[in-house]
Amino acid sequence: MLAAMIVIGSLAVIALAVKRIRDAQTVINLNEDIFGSLPSWYLFRIFKTILTFVITIPKFTLPPAIRLFKMCFAHHSSHMIALVCKYNIADHLALKELSVEELASKEDLHADTLYRVLKYLETEGIFEEVPSKPHVFRNTKMSSHLMEKHKTSIKCLAITQLYEIKRFGIMEEVLKKGKSETYTQVLNEQDDFERRNYELLFETASRMAMKPILGDFNFGAYRNMLDVGGNTGYVLDTILEQYPNMTGVVFDRPIVIDDSGRDSERNSRKNKSRMSFLGGDFFEKIPSVDPLTQEPIQLYFLKQILHDWSDEDCVRILKNIRQAMNKDAILVISEPSLHEGHDHMNRQMDVLMASIGGRERTTRQFEELFQKSKFRLEKIVPLRSSHFLTIAKPI
Ligand SMILES: C[S@@+](CC[C@H](N)C(=O)[O-])C[C@H]1O[C@@H](n2cnc3c(N)ncnc32)[C@H](O)[C@@H]1O
Repeated sequence: MLAAMIVIGSLAVIALAVKRIRDAQTVINLNEDIFGSLPSWYLFRIFKTILTFVITIPKFTLPPAIRLFKMCFAHHSSHMIALVCKYNIADHLALKELSVEELASKEDLHADTLYRVLKYLETEGIFEEVPSKPHVFRNTKMSSHLMEKHKTSIKCLAITQLYEIKRFGIMEEVLKKGKSETYTQVLNEQDDFERRNYELLFETASRMAMKPILGDFNFGAYRNMLDVGGNTGYVLDTILEQYPNMTGVVFDRPIVIDDSGRDSERNSRKNKSRMSFLGGDFFEKIPSVDPLTQEPIQLYFLKQILHDWSDEDCVRILKNIRQAMNKDAILVISEPSLHEGHDHMNRQMDVLMASIGGRERTTRQFEELFQKSKFRLEKIVPLRSSHFLTIAKPI
């Protein structure tokens, strides 16, 4: 009896520990709102400590050769996931179970190959063949994240990999010479489908990232803001939603601004009456006035912008902002910040950025950029996510 109670008790403790480990990863890596609001700072710090330990576990549980084996094959999984996303398999299965033949005919695919792909993905927990119905599939918890409408959707990110896999071939050249094509070249090579998917990818990513930003920074201290490289306006809309007295400007490439005007969902941004959309090039000139109120811009926001560019290009962008802004305006940068140690996700992003001529930076490296463009670092605002806000003021 005592032995049974000890076993049940131990299993319960293990189950709770596993749940907390999953919660920690969901909150920190995905910013998913599992408690209905941001966790308290106390809980967040506990989660961060758990996560620092958890990410080292595979190093102890898998032999080095097997870890390498899995990493060598990772591009296969990435490609298969991207293809099932491109052909909307998880979206079709959102409504009902479907046979592989039905799925194949909906998207004009080869049924036998689709079956083999789905059976491979099933071994990773993505999709499931219904036990009593051969060749009939349904979504699993994991594959439901591949649906467009899931609140933590990975679909656009997955589809982006179809292009990344081809483009990343350039890495050998970068490794030899340290030179890549620029982000401008990469963007200009995008066809309509890739560009729209890319815009949507950043909307989805921002859907996850904005809560921690809004939780720990008060945009309401400013009357207006300009979102530099603000994509199709999702981020600005979310900020204005929380601050009803603010107005704001989305500044991006003309083609992206055109997309935000054309798309019906984006056209119905809740706070559209307080938003302006301006197309332009941040290497040429950056707006200094909010067209709605004719007031000078008080806050310049750059989310995931500087890491796309070399130091020289960042200085050009920052100098243009500095030239546009009043002495009392501020610059808010939202970007991962590199630190020493095993910073897996940010190091992976850093290599991705190397392939387009950009880089992730440490706080020290941000400070160097500021010095060259007449800004000074004001403060670093920690967030309850894996990011920080870096705040700078003009000198
Ligand atoms: C990595 S995305 C970030 C989007 C958005 N800030 C976010 O975090 O969701 C970079 C953005 O910069 C824009 N961009 C790139 N080059 C630009 C340029 N020369 N002038 C204005 N915007 C540019 C892109 O169109 C894209 O929307």
